[in-house]
Amino acid sequence: MIKVINLENQENASYYAAIQIIKQLKTQSNSVLGLATGGTMIELYKSLNHLIHVNCIDLSDVKTFNLDEYININSNHEQSYKTYMYNNFIKQNKTFNEENFFIPNGNADDLQTEIERYEKLIKHYGYIDLQILGIGENGHIGFNEPGTAFTSKTHIVNLEASTIEANSRYFNTSEEVPNQAITMGISTILKAKKIILLAFGESKKYALRKLLDGNIEESLPASILNKHSNVEILVDNQALGI
Ligand code: F6R
Repeated sequence: MIKVINLENQENASYYAAIQIIKQLKTQSNSVLGLATGGTMIELYKSLNHLIHVNCIDLSDVKTFNLDEYININSNHEQSYKTYMYNNFIKQNKTFNEENFFIPNGNADDLQTEIERYEKLIKHYGYIDLQILGIGENGHIGFNEPGTAFTSKTHIVNLEASTIEANSRYFNTSEEVPNQAITMGISTILKAKKIILLAFGESKKYALRKLLDGNIEESLPASILNKHSNVEILVDNQALGI
């Protein structure tokens, strides 16, 4: 079941999402969190880091699994998702154990082995307790582009031209923008016990409207969330078009 909550702006919605994560961590100190990157999440990590600090949350038993990582980007590159996580979350939280930070390795010699390893690792920890998601302008979740099978597990994707274009805002030149990634699959994401999706700004209006119209189709990957029992979608006015 999907519950949509309009918090009017990104700041309020990010704070609300961070509170949900804190509640999860207070209930279960060894939670497995599914984390996302991208512009949408910047404010969320700010709020989360603040709330972890003021509530003295001990993260030493928390495990985190990132949704995705680019292929063939140096892990020290400022736009790799690994670097993003260090800058926005890991460095700020001294109690977090880096050994519990998991992200696909887009530089693995054998990518097939890597995707299988990642999927097994998530299974080993009992899948995700609380999954945070953004949404692409084309309705992707993780980097599961339109047409991805709802049954997919962690896999390699060729990014759509529109995704490469959307991501190019984070890179200096368009040649630098990766065109492949490893992503958690849709079936992997759906195994999460609870999912919170954040969608902000006018550019997400189309995907959000399609998601909420209730038709479940692989051409809009996020539409499968209509089948999940516990999903909250946090939005601002622009994403709702009001
Ligand atoms: C990132 C991810 C993607 C993004 C989506 C929106 O880890 O999984 O699905 O959430 O592309 O990106 P932004 O927030 O940059 O608009």
